[in-house]
Amino acid sequence: MGRKEPASRSTGKALPEVDYEKLGQEAVERIASAGDLDALEALRVEFLGKQGSVSALLKTLGGLSPEERTEVGPKIHGLRESVSEALTARKAALEAGVLEARLATETIDLTLPAPEAPKGSVHPVSQVMDELAEVFADLGFAVAAGPEIEDDWHNFSALNMPESHPAREMHDTFYFGENRRAPNGGRMLLRTHTSPVQVRTMLQRGAPLRIIAPGRVYRSDSDATHTPMFHQVEGLVIDRDIHLGHLKWTLETFLKAFFEREDIVMRLRPSYFPFTEPSVEVDVGFAVESGPNGKARRVLGGGGDEPGHGWMELLGSGMVNRRVIEFAGLDPDQWQGFAFGVGVDRLAMLKYGMDDLRAFFDGDARWLRHYGFSAFDQPTLSAGVGSTVGARS
Ligand code: PHE
Repeated sequence: MGRKEPASRSTGKALPEVDYEKLGQEAVERIASAGDLDALEALRVEFLGKQGSVSALLKTLGGLSPEERTEVGPKIHGLRESVSEALTARKAALEAGVLEARLATETIDLTLPAPEAPKGSVHPVSQVMDELAEVFADLGFAVAAGPEIEDDWHNFSALNMPESHPAREMHDTFYFGENRRAPNGGRMLLRTHTSPVQVRTMLQRGAPLRIIAPGRVYRSDSDATHTPMFHQVEGLVIDRDIHLGHLKWTLETFLKAFFEREDIVMRLRPSYFPFTEPSVEVDVGFAVESGPNGKARRVLGGGGDEPGHGWMELLGSGMVNRRVIEFAGLDPDQWQGFAFGVGVDRLAMLKYGMDDLRAFFDGDARWLRHYGFSAFDQPTLSAGVGSTVGARS
């Protein structure tokens, strides 16, 4: 197409003769020789800023006729393009230079001690639960769990404590309001022991079974040795020919491994729990020694009848009552087994020497710093389930 007269929409003024290519070259040269990031920023403002020269050229496009715009538009846009490319490239080069310079001049003193990061610690209850899981895993037990908000049936009835059973009075139960009912119609409550996990696990998994169930339990009770929330671990073994001998061996093996003493001596005493028959309470022998602060303390080991010794009640256990096995959906003529329940907090106190249970749940950071355990000190059977690093009593 030949050259045309200015079209009617034109401003009428002849297009100024601008050498966009030259403008571009000059701009690119100045940008390429910018000495530092500040000088570069000044150039960016000069060309592309609101009042910048390239921005001003772009603005003129609006006043041009379509023909004129087709002619100079691409040139102005090209100019803007090369200016911004040059800016980006120079910026990268200058930044790399700054980094180079820092790397060349700065040195790191690797001999300086690193600032110590704040460390949390593992609560003794968590530590002891890990230790229990470790010991029982070695005996082939899996860890099972159940809800802390339970219903009446799992916490009591299925454990052979029907409504109005006097044994229910032994547990000072926290009940939910009457308007909160379980799907089976029962009242809701905070579980008073971990024994409902026996029932739940038998119902879910059938038999044979070998489980422990550690967890929180609740009773309306509070003094130096009782807190409204505390921890238990339940044990349950169901198979075809399990008898009291298995229970005795398991508990003895567990106690020796957990307390890391071969001289643990147990005494089984006849007792009563509605969900076991026969029921036995297990006592362990202890010696009275004087603690670090001169206070007498009980250390497990040795028979309780030896001079300077005594027996302490440690846990409840027995052969699972036939009725419980039936409630849990199994045939008691085929399946039988033993169960036990023990206070985890109690085990922690005995092993690591704390004397006030309430301190366990106060959340006092000083107590945790003193009695807490290092997260890096995992209990293992080979290295000893007891913590050597963390226990700072
Ligand atoms: N559930 C009982 C309690 O809390 C302990 C126990 C568990 C006894 C299992 C026997 C068998 O006191």
